[in-house]
Amino acid sequence: MPDTTIPMSSKNDLTRWFPDGWRDHELLDSGDGSRLERFGDLVLIRPEPKAIWARGLAEADWSRMAAAQFVPTGRTKGHWDIRQSVPDSWEICFPISPKQNLHFSLELTRFKHVGIFPEQAANWRWIADRMSPEKRMLNLFAYTGGASLAARSTGADVTHVDAIKQVVTWTRMNMELSGLDGIRWCVEDALRFVEREVRRDKAYDLIVMDPPSWGLGPKGEKWKLEEKLGLLIQSAAKIVAPGGAVVMNTYSGLSPSSLENLWRTVWPGCRIEAGELCLSSGTGQVLPTGSLVRVVRP
Ligand SMILES: C[S@@+](CC[C@H](N)C(=O)[O-])C[C@H]1O[C@@H](n2cnc3c(N)ncnc32)[C@H](O)[C@@H]1O
Repeated sequence: MPDTTIPMSSKNDLTRWFPDGWRDHELLDSGDGSRLERFGDLVLIRPEPKAIWARGLAEADWSRMAAAQFVPTGRTKGHWDIRQSVPDSWEICFPISPKQNLHFSLELTRFKHVGIFPEQAANWRWIADRMSPEKRMLNLFAYTGGASLAARSTGADVTHVDAIKQVVTWTRMNMELSGLDGIRWCVEDALRFVEREVRRDKAYDLIVMDPPSWGLGPKGEKWKLEEKLGLLIQSAAKIVAPGGAVVMNTYSGLSPSSLENLWRTVWPGCRIEAGELCLSSGTGQVLPTGSLVRVVRP
């Protein structure tokens, strides 16, 4: 009988990744369904369904520190309760190397986000370490482009794909604030883009992707994670160069082991690190934010 068991490199060793090096971001506390964090000089309170434990700090401390709080009024709706003066936009930076800062313009958006997922910085230095001017990187579901800027800061050839034009314009501003240029922008459905690259026989040394639970491409293409993720992985696997890698994150609730199994199906024998992307708070909690795999093509 052939051995059909999946070669689990990581039976007992799921990883927890934390960003290292932030000066302009800090998770001050979390609990009771919320997170208290500092972005530059501004402290914000946002809903955090994963924070099911009790807060470390008193509610009065949260209220005293917070300049604004996002108040949800539906599953995807809500408004900001502004308590201190908050500018229309403000800037923070992350030191990707001793000589280069990545700059991000932030603002209070209608969907509780501010233009950055700070835990992703745990990937940015890993990406920068793998990239160089002769390498090609593709960033799918790329949002405001932390991973794109990290790769571009090494001189790599970078393609940035997101469905929303305004988000791409926002990333372009971040690129310019960071003193970088030359990123290739695509406002397109991520799966459609990848399928076209397969037909064109393109190859990338690194693909970064952060597929949401659901989304819409610019031509109304419906993205539903549970329906399309397998297809996206199969297609993306075809455009990774030999020895290349994939960084795949999701905030959708899929477990790291599920992501690992999906990748082992398309690339038996690949090297995978799987685990959680986390933030640690000043009050000692570990806040899990999403599932992550780093996969190296065999
Ligand atoms: C969770 S965010 C990604 C965050 C990103 N990893 C970062 O660090 O900034 C998901 C992004 O996917 C984009 N998106 C949603 N549906 C899409 C689709 N069908 N094709 C391409 N992008 C899509 C959204 O516009 C959003 O910017």
